Amino acid sequence: MKFITVDTYEKLSRQAANIISAQVILKPDSVLGLATGSSPLGTYKQLIEWYEKGDIDFSKVVSVNLDEYVGLDGASDQSYRYFMNKNLFEHINIDLGNTFVPNGCAVDLAGEGKRYDEHIAELGGIDLQLLGIGLDGHIGFNEPDKYFVKSTHVVDLHESTIKANSRFFANIDEVPKRAITMGMVSIMQAKKILLIASGKEKRDILEKTFYGPITPEIPASILQLHPDITVIYSEK
Ligand code: GLP
Repeated sequence: MKFITVDTYEKLSRQAANIISAQVILKPDSVLGLATGSSPLGTYKQLIEWYEKGDIDFSKVVSVNLDEYVGLDGASDQSYRYFMNKNLFEHINIDLGNTFVPNGCAVDLAGEGKRYDEHIAELGGIDLQLLGIGLDGHIGFNEPDKYFVKSTHVVDLHESTIKANSRFFANIDEVPKRAITMGMVSIMQAKKILLIASGKEKRDILEKTFYGPITPEIPASILQLHPDITVIYSEK
């Protein structure tokens, strides 16, 4: 594991964008595993800037996102599909048809999970997975549990996650109570993982995640077993 600490969010974002852009330069048809939340916003902004300068070409890139709220479709401005379109895809030359987010409105959500995993496998797996981390150690929406969930699945969001994510909604009652998230197999099978986290409030969970016991009660702790993971942490 490489653990990089920087002092500002801007530096974190530039370094993360550098790693993603190197991936795309070296393998133009990379499968990028992408994340939502506040943490990747600066990284996406930097990637857009470099794309506009002509430094990165996303035309052959395929993306698979980690998760989606159950019941929200791409038209809802709180959906993760909408987030990705607005904060990245609409500003770069990725083929929208090559961007995948789990369908939170699928009638058969279990079937959707299976389909999503099969699709990732058909793509040859993920080359580089970008991750944020929740304050309780969740990645994607893999919440603390008694065991690690392997495949893409529906999850009941924990009260603390609902509360944390309510900052993006008009009020807490509007936050969906369920989500569909990639499970640990697709995440752990990614060839490379890049986890980004910023702010003092994330320090404690990072320490538990990477230097404590590997336990499903801190889902991200399984990442200790990944052979190629880079963590970038910024204090601010
Ligand atoms: C959400 C997302 C996660 C993300 C986490 C942390 O719950 N499902 O993928 O990592 O929030 O978000 P932030 O980066 O805003 O702290």
